[in-house]
Amino acid sequence: MKEAQLKHLWWQEGVIYQIYPRSFQDSNGDGVGDLQGIISRLDYLEWLGIDAIWISPIFSSPMADFGYDISDYQGIHQLFGTMEDFDKLLEEVHRRGMKLILDLVPNHTSYQHPWFLESRSSRDNPKRDWYIWHDALPDGSEPNNWLSVFGGSGWEWDETTQQYYYHAFLKEQPDLNWRNPEVQEAMMNVMRFWLDKGVDGFRVDVMWHMVKDNQFRDNPPNPNYEPHMATYEQLIPAYSTDQPEVHDIVRKMRAVLDEYDERMMIGEIYLPIQKLMTYYGNENNGAHLPFNFLLLSLQWEAQLIASNIDMYEGALPEGGWPNWVLGNHDQPRITSRVGAAQARVAAMLLLTLRGTPTVYYGDEIGMRDVPIPPEEVQDPQGLNMPDLHLSRDPSRTPMQWEDSSNAGFTEGKPWLRLPDYFRRINVKVQQDDPFSMLTLYRRLIKLRHEEPALSIGDYIPLYSDHQVLAFIRKSGEQRFLVVLNLSHRPCYFKPKHHTFTGTVVLATFPERENTTITESISLGGDEGILVRLDS
Ligand code: GLC
Repeated sequence: MKEAQLKHLWWQEGVIYQIYPRSFQDSNGDGVGDLQGIISRLDYLEWLGIDAIWISPIFSSPMADFGYDISDYQGIHQLFGTMEDFDKLLEEVHRRGMKLILDLVPNHTSYQHPWFLESRSSRDNPKRDWYIWHDALPDGSEPNNWLSVFGGSGWEWDETTQQYYYHAFLKEQPDLNWRNPEVQEAMMNVMRFWLDKGVDGFRVDVMWHMVKDNQFRDNPPNPNYEPHMATYEQLIPAYSTDQPEVHDIVRKMRAVLDEYDERMMIGEIYLPIQKLMTYYGNENNGAHLPFNFLLLSLQWEAQLIASNIDMYEGALPEGGWPNWVLGNHDQPRITSRVGAAQARVAAMLLLTLRGTPTVYYGDEIGMRDVPIPPEEVQDPQGLNMPDLHLSRDPSRTPMQWEDSSNAGFTEGKPWLRLPDYFRRINVKVQQDDPFSMLTLYRRLIKLRHEEPALSIGDYIPLYSDHQVLAFIRKSGEQRFLVVLNLSHRPCYFKPKHHTFTGTVVLATFPERENTTITESISLGGDEGILVRLDS
């Protein structure tokens, strides 16, 4: 659909920033980030040009999975502060014209949630069916072969009631039974609670996990499994995830959001493009933005990325809005995947593609994955499969603000260590450096805001080979040419059938700016340029 036909909303035009609250800013010296800390850094986010903030879970939780195991959906964990702090945060975010997106974790609760305590208390408890209970097989073993994402079986035996319960993640995270209408109603009320407060939307955790096969059939073996992979990869989760009925649930959640004004829902979904698209719903009555993780999962290879951008664009349903992500709290950081120099090119890609970009905290200063010694590993995924190097701690380390002790993150002992070089890589030193990563991010975001061609304009693929990726963004008469060298070696871009003339307005090597482009373009390794084309 041509851009002119659509009215664009904040979550289409804006840039989203993900905060991992444990690691953003501590205000009380306990070494863990908190809500007051976030409030104290809102000016920074406003300066950076962020439009919406998504905060990973801040709710009451025993913290078996760092807040993704919730024991009260309507309570704030004391580590993060109080409900008053939350109200203040929301107010301060809105006062700056920004939006606040909360993490909703509907697939599972904590095993300490009162619903589960009731459910497991007896087989005839009214909440028994709120979770997924199943008899053992005749020999006492698990009901089927489903595995936990975090290692081992997905089933846990309950001595008291002599049945198994299912947990897609930790045994401390029992899965809710979304086929039960009471569960649906309870979670919709959780949504309303936060929406009534004025929260602008939700990022919905593991949306594609929410409904399971009602016959509990075994998952098939994965022919592509290799021993270095997580044990969960041994099977294809054909029956434990992405069931057709999930779309009924997503539609109902969407209907709750639609009771309010301009609220939105992002779905966390790791699925191939065609499957991902189904989460937009028929006639866009599903998630507003099913998270697009292509840039996280593909090899960093120009032609592969170009073809996937086109497949993604081509597969979008009419009216479905695209989005792009370079990093999150579950994945290695982009700088560690592609290197510091190439991470600048990645930033330019993220912020010039068509679709809402989500920036993971710290990526804007080029934070790297921080090596955490084995005895300090905290992530259950890392602890459960120690030899597979799957800990997510390295990409969750404290934000590097300045060169004082603990990088200005805390006055106490940080919950995860900082890297030795934080005095060199931090917000403060980068803020006024015209060549820094932070300056690059800020200028890209600024230009994106100023130029409709970049925020809401059309995407026109142009060229790709084993090094170069080039495309055009266009709105009305305004056209921008983006040429990115995804390799470390120099290359040429010589467009066929077209001649382009224009001026470089932004470049990963800023010395290139203000030069004019006429015929062929030569690029250094790790170089990306953004060219305003002459009309
Ligand atoms: C999502 C979260 C991840 C969490 C898991 C279980 O994938 O992003 O951090 O561990 O769900 O809730």
